[in-house]
Amino acid sequence: MIEVISKSPNETEEYAEKLGKHLNGGEVIAFFGGLGMGKTAFTRGMAKALGVDEEVSSPTFAIVNDYGGNPPLYHFDMYRVETWDDLYASGFFDFYEAGGILAVEWSENIENALPENTIRVQIERGEHDNQRIITIDGGIQI
Ligand SMILES: Nc1ncnc2c1ncn2[C@@H]1O[C@H](COP(=O)(O)OP(=O)(O)OP(=O)(O)O)[C@@H](O)[C@H]1O
Ligand SMILES: [Mg+2]
Repeated sequence: MIEVISKSPNETEEYAEKLGKHLNGGEVIAFFGGLGMGKTAFTRGMAKALGVDEEVSSPTFAIVNDYGGNPPLYHFDMYRVETWDDLYASGFFDFYEAGGILAVEWSENIENALPENTIRVQIERGEHDNQRIITIDGGIQI
């Protein structure tokens, strides 16, 4: 388990970019932590490491953004996903089986569906407004 303290959105992106460089495809990065904690900022940093040019934003209505990249990065927002049917319809399992990298906001909602080797990223607010305590669990380096 790794714990880092970020003092700005940029710093969060930089940590995420470092983690992104260790990804090979077939990983699930599951975010835990409430509104505005920096899940999208973290995904933006990973996307940079994977050579994504597209803008990274929460896929709230689409459920999933496909950014391409090599390996391809799929960015999910499970906020509105309530049933197994919703989850199957989102493409989560198909993209996983095809070897994509899955970044999953609001993983709280699909916890039972996460694969065993999921990389769990918990983000909490620290003492100050711009401080975030980021805990990464799942045997990955940053
Ligand atoms: N250290 C930090 N790391 C990341 N974001 C920070 C930090 N400090 C402040 N912020 C602010 O917190 C917000 C994080 O927004 P972001 O969209 O990444 O969160 P999110 O967890 O994806 O939220 P949502 O659940 O609404 O999708 C931004 O407004 C950003 O400027
Ligand atoms: Mg978000």
